[in-house]
Amino acid sequence: MDIVLASPKIRTRIDAGSSATPSIAQEYRIGAVPGGDPNLDRHWAGLLVAYAAMSSVVSDQTVSLSPPLLQKLQLELYRRSRVEVWLLRLDTLHPQVSGNKGFKLKYALEEAQACGAARILSFGGAFSNHIHALAFAGFARGIDTIGVIRGESDYAGNPTLSDAASWGMRLHFVDRATYRRKAQQAFLSHLEGLFGPCYLIAEGGCGPLATRGCREILGQVPAEQLARFDLIAVAVGTGGTLSGLIASRPAHCRLLGFPVLKGAEFLFRDIRSQLADAGIADPGGWHLQLDAHGGGYGCVTTQLAAFLAAFERETGILLDPVYTGKMLLRFNQQVADGDVPAGSRVLLIHTGGLQGLRGMAKTLYDRRLAFQGALPL
Ligand SMILES: Cc1ncc(COP(=O)(O)O)c(C=O)c1O
Repeated sequence: MDIVLASPKIRTRIDAGSSATPSIAQEYRIGAVPGGDPNLDRHWAGLLVAYAAMSSVVSDQTVSLSPPLLQKLQLELYRRSRVEVWLLRLDTLHPQVSGNKGFKLKYALEEAQACGAARILSFGGAFSNHIHALAFAGFARGIDTIGVIRGESDYAGNPTLSDAASWGMRLHFVDRATYRRKAQQAFLSHLEGLFGPCYLIAEGGCGPLATRGCREILGQVPAEQLARFDLIAVAVGTGGTLSGLIASRPAHCRLLGFPVLKGAEFLFRDIRSQLADAGIADPGGWHLQLDAHGGGYGCVTTQLAAFLAAFERETGILLDPVYTGKMLLRFNQQVADGDVPAGSRVLLIHTGGLQGLRGMAKTLYDRRLAFQGALPL
C-alpha cells in the first residue's frame, strides 16, 4: 500500500513497508490513497510526517510542525476525573536532537569542545535515540563521533543508524557480551587503540553533566505556569533526566518517574548516586512507579499499540512506544482508577524518541488491530 505525501514543492510516494527517506520536508498535506483504509492511511501518514520532520537534515527550510511547547491535553477521561493535564512537548524542540537529548548532551558537548577533543565515542543499541542525537550534534558542531553499537552489523541499514552514518558517525558493532564490558578499562583501552583518544559519553548520555543539563528542562515552562502544577511526571530509562528534574523541582511539586525497564527497583539507588555524583543533595519529593514497563524494555503490548493510535487520534500528538507512550498509558490508568485526586494539575513531559517509530510502524499497526477492550482515554 502506498501513502502520498504532497507539498506545494514536493510530492513523494512512499512504499509504506519500506524505510525510504522522503525528500526534505516543507509543508505536508496528507493525501490518502484512493480506495485505501482511511484509518490505516491516517496512521501511516502520521508516522511519516514525523519521519519527514526527522529527515529534514541540515535543511534551511522550516518544517511546519510547531505545536505549542506546553499543551493542555483535552481528553474525556481527564474532564470526567476533573484533573488538568498538560504535556511539555520537548519532542518539538529540535527535529534531530529531540526530547531530553539536547539537555542530556549539552554540557558534555561543550566540555568535549572546550578540551579540544578530536572525537566523541559513546554506546547504544541499534535503535538508540541517544546515538541518533549524538551523531547529529557531532555533525552540527564539526566533531567526529563514534557509536559503539550493541548487535550485528546487519542493523547498519536501519533508519536510526543510516541517519547516524549519514551524519558521519563511525559505527562499531560489538556482540552483547562485549557490550556489557563498556565501562571496563580494558575494553575502553581497546577502543582507544582502534580509534585514538576519544571524549567518552556513557550509554544513554548519563552522568553528572547530563543531570546538570536536565536541570534546565523545567526552565522551559514559564514560572507562573510551573507554579500551578502539583505533580510532574516523566518516563525513566537510566534516570538521568529524572535526576535533573529532582534537582530543579519546585518545592511544592511532587515528581513521579515511570521506569520502562522491568525490575527497576535499583533505580531508587542509582538516581540517588547520580544526584550525589552531580554534587546535589537529594531533596526528596520523588517516587518511581515501577509497574509501567508493559513486559519490559522495548516490549509493545497490543494495548499499548492501540493506546498510541487512539491517543494520536484524540490529541494529534505522536508518542513513542518505548518511553513517553508507556508513561501516558500507565498515568491514564491511574487516573481511570481514581488514583489521581480530582483537582490535580499535572505536567507530563514528552521526552521525544519519535525517530525510533520508523522501524516499528508495521508492528504497531498489527498489534493495534489485535487489541480488543477499553482504553483509558
Ligand atoms: C525518548 C526518551 N525518553 C526518555 C528517556 C529516559 O531518559 P533517562 O535515561 O535519562 O532516564 C530516554 C533515554 O535516554 C529516551 O530516549
